[in-house]
Amino acid sequence: MNKKWMFAAAGVAVAGSLAFVQAQSQQDTAPSTEPAPASATAQPIQFPHDIHAGTYQMDCQYCHFSAERSVDAGIPPVSTCMGCHTMIPGENQPEEINKVREYWNSGETIPWVRIHKVADHVHFPHMRHINAGLQCQECHGEIQEIGVLEAPEPTWGKGKMGWCISCHVERDVTRDCTVCHY
Ligand code: HEC
Ligand code: HEC
Ligand code: HEC
Ligand code: HEC
Ligand code: HEC
Repeated sequence: MNKKWMFAAAGVAVAGSLAFVQAQSQQDTAPSTEPAPASATAQPIQFPHDIHAGTYQMDCQYCHFSAERSVDAGIPPVSTCMGCHTMIPGENQPEEINKVREYWNSGETIPWVRIHKVADHVHFPHMRHINAGLQCQECHGEIQEIGVLEAPEPTWGKGKMGWCISCHVERDVTRDCTVCHY
């Protein structure tokens, strides 16, 4: 079957199941809040960002839907995946799609491993940055070109506090210690 057509059909299915997704998301959205130890970043499912956000140009916020209104960008619930993968079995790695379906059928949350994390004493509000017009890529890089994400280099954020401060200086945003530190 024509891939583009299937994709369009899946989009209709998504729209149709939105109310259901809303109800569902209460119970299965929460991503792990613990940072991953550098050695344990193997994900439960090999999720390819390049296919979704690259080839099919899905908007980042279709899945990370709380980025513009909350502190966390959020990891999508299984129901978001099933809006499409009820119909799309996958051509190259159908076994990975089967895992998605198994989580869905058993009502379990996919135990994604969190890989980007600042220290607990730091407050990073996504919504303030997104609403100021920053692109995800400015901080996370060209995610839409990456297959399976790996844990960022320990230098991601380039020493972090300096990274935050230098952009805040550049854009004349506050450097008050207490906005970033609890
Ligand atoms: C808007 C539709 C849509 C949504 C939502 C979606 N996918 Fe996909 N996904 C696709 C399409 C299209 C492909 C490419 C399938 C192909 O080439 O056969 C794909 C491919 C994949 C693949 C690779 C399988 C392969 O054979 O290439 C995995 C794994 C996957 N998706 C997991 C997920 C997960 C996990 C979620 C939820 C976080 C998700 N998808 C949400 C449309 C979607
Ligand atoms: C189809 C849904 C989907 C789309 C579209 C999508 N993502 Fe993701 N994203 C996920 C899932 C599922 C994970 C968790 C698995 C992983 O880390 O690979 C994730 C993980 C991430 C992470 C790592 C989170 C952590 O643990 O620190 C970042 C950063 C990210 N996505 C950014 C983006 C950006 C930027 C875009 C747009 C270019 C995008 N995503 C588009 C589903 C999606
Ligand atoms: C100004 C830099 C910046 C921008 C812009 C940004 N992020 Fe982040 N992102 C971060 C930092 C820093 C963390 C770690 C935050 C923490 O530990 O509290 C993070 C963490 C994440 C995570 C991990 C889990 C979560 O729920 O927060 C995801 C997913 C993510 N970002 C996706 C996105 C997406 C999608 C966009 C665009 C809509 C985006 N980010 C824009 C800096 C940024
Ligand atoms: C690429 C530029 C950039 C980077 C990197 C960046 N910020 Fe920001 N930050 C901004 C902008 C722009 C605003 C928007 C202020 C506004 O709403 O007008 C902002 C706002 C904030 C606010 C809200 C400030 C207030 O007045 O309440 C906090 C807190 C914050 N950033 C923390 C961080 C932290 C922590 C990091 C590093 C982990 C970081 N930022 C990295 C550009 C950046
Ligand atoms: C724009 C956000 C931001 C502002 C403003 C800020 N910090 Fe930080 N600070 C951070 C981040 C991010 C880290 C690194 C956290 C990590 O390692 O994950 C950090 C780390 C620290 C540390 C721990 C040492 C270290 O290197 O990890 C101290 C102490 C600290 N900051 C003090 C301050 C003081 C004092 C001020 C005011 C003069 C200040 N910070 C202003 C974001 C900020």
